[in-house]
Amino acid sequence: MSRTLVLAANWKMNKGPAATGEFLDPFLASIGSQAGACEVIVAPPFVSLPAAAAKLAGSGVALAAQNASQFDSGAYTGEISVGMLQELGVKHVILGHSERRSIYGETDEVINAKIKKVLDAGLHPIFCIGETLEEREGGKLETVLRTQVRDGLVGVSEEGLLNSVLAYEPVWAIGTGVTASPAQAQEAHAFVRSLLADLYSDEVAQKVRIQYGGSVKPGNSAELMAQPDIDGALVGGASLDPKDFQALIANALA
Ligand code: 13P
Repeated sequence: MSRTLVLAANWKMNKGPAATGEFLDPFLASIGSQAGACEVIVAPPFVSLPAAAAKLAGSGVALAAQNASQFDSGAYTGEISVGMLQELGVKHVILGHSERRSIYGETDEVINAKIKKVLDAGLHPIFCIGETLEEREGGKLETVLRTQVRDGLVGVSEEGLLNSVLAYEPVWAIGTGVTASPAQAQEAHAFVRSLLADLYSDEVAQKVRIQYGGSVKPGNSAELMAQPDIDGALVGGASLDPKDFQALIANALA
């Protein structure tokens, strides 16, 4: 089964509108036609989405948001709706990131509501899952991933799943410089794919793309991307430098 690789830049709380332009000008010039050979996505902070949308028009690089509300509109101070994101040209929304889970208390139930809201609007969730070091060392890796996948996808149709990308991000590898070994990552990805096969079907599971995230750098990405069940990367730190992110795309296509 050949799945198109998907490389996404999660800038987290970095780069306002001016810095977004400063990144995208050299980045878009450097990637040339590479954005056609794999899927490339950039997720700036909300306030930088209009600046990014203007630069990305016609580039083949898609725009993502880092979060969205599970509600349509109303008295939700500080929140941003899926409709507002859509108006700005956003195509993908990162949901369930471990920072949203651990710092902002997002539960599997909330993440599930957000996933469904994003899918209902015709956008594409990037659904993040992953275990903490304590959970891994406590032998709970499979239980944690099973719960996150099952509860996050309640009521999501086969079509909805196929319109989503999953991202396996072991919490202990995020921003730490410690990456999962290619074998550890492959094992977790194969397990997540088996969960999708149980919930949907093997045929559907084989089509779903599962990105790896957690300290992906130009120096370690080729080996990770070469694993059979790893279909791209969700990149934090190394996506902040246009040269590094371009190198990750080049590695993925090598
Ligand atoms: P780092 O690449 O900085 O480890 O971040 C990974 C991540 O959280 C992407 O969503």
